[in-house]
Amino acid sequence: MRVLAQRLVFCALLGSLYASCPPRCECSEAAHTVKCVSRELRAVPAGIPGYTRNLFITGNHISRIGPECFKGLDNVTTLSLSNNRISEVDSNTFSGLRSLRSLDLSNNQLAIIHPEAFMVQNHSLLDLNLSRALYNHSSVMDLATLCAGAP
Ligand SMILES: *[C@@H]1O[C@H](CO)[C@@H](O)[C@H](O)[C@H]1NC(C)=O
Ligand SMILES: *[C@@H]1O[C@H](CO)[C@@H](O)[C@H](O)[C@H]1NC(C)=O
Ligand SMILES: *[C@@H]1O[C@H](CO)[C@@H](O)[C@H](O)[C@H]1NC(C)=O
Ligand SMILES: *[C@@H]1O[C@H](CO)[C@@H](O)[C@H](O)[C@H]1NC(C)=O
Repeated sequence: MRVLAQRLVFCALLGSLYASCPPRCECSEAAHTVKCVSRELRAVPAGIPGYTRNLFITGNHISRIGPECFKGLDNVTTLSLSNNRISEVDSNTFSGLRSLRSLDLSNNQLAIIHPEAFMVQNHSLLDLNLSRALYNHSSVMDLATLCAGAP
């Protein structure tokens, strides 16, 4: 129960049931694009529409992400979370993003990367940008472990 409560703090549940645009974001259905740029967000916003293919949540204050953040976003191919304060990536954070091809985590502070953090159900991930994303040696070791375990 306590773990669940903690997760509710960094991610809003049930978000993608709503078709409208989340507060502090700009949504273009025609371009299949949602941008929440430099809005001091501390969490991935709820209510990102299902049509989204390109999702930019950049230049915010997000510190932790997990699988709860990206539910129901089957169509997202490009996700950028660059320029946040992400220090921890949970296992299977992105696994629900079945069409994900490009993931940009550049300019973050990753210290803990859990096993299977970058697992995507569909094995569709082609690009992963970790430029200036690793905070210290811990994350480098986590990455090494993760790569060694990959098939
Ligand atoms: C993803 O896109 C397809 C085709 O545009 C659409 O039919 C489907 O409803 C979308 N998925 C979601 C979760 O909205
Ligand atoms: C798997 O990924 C490809 C893109 O690499 C996408 O076209 C396809 O729709 C995805 N399949 C499912 C089941 O989401
Ligand atoms: C990776 O991210 C950095 C910093 O945001 C950017 O300058 C660079 O062009 C990106 N690399 C690729 C291959 O997209
Ligand atoms: C890396 O930073 C994290 C968070 O501050 C800390 O818990 C961890 O011990 C650090 N690891 C190393 C090898 O310094």
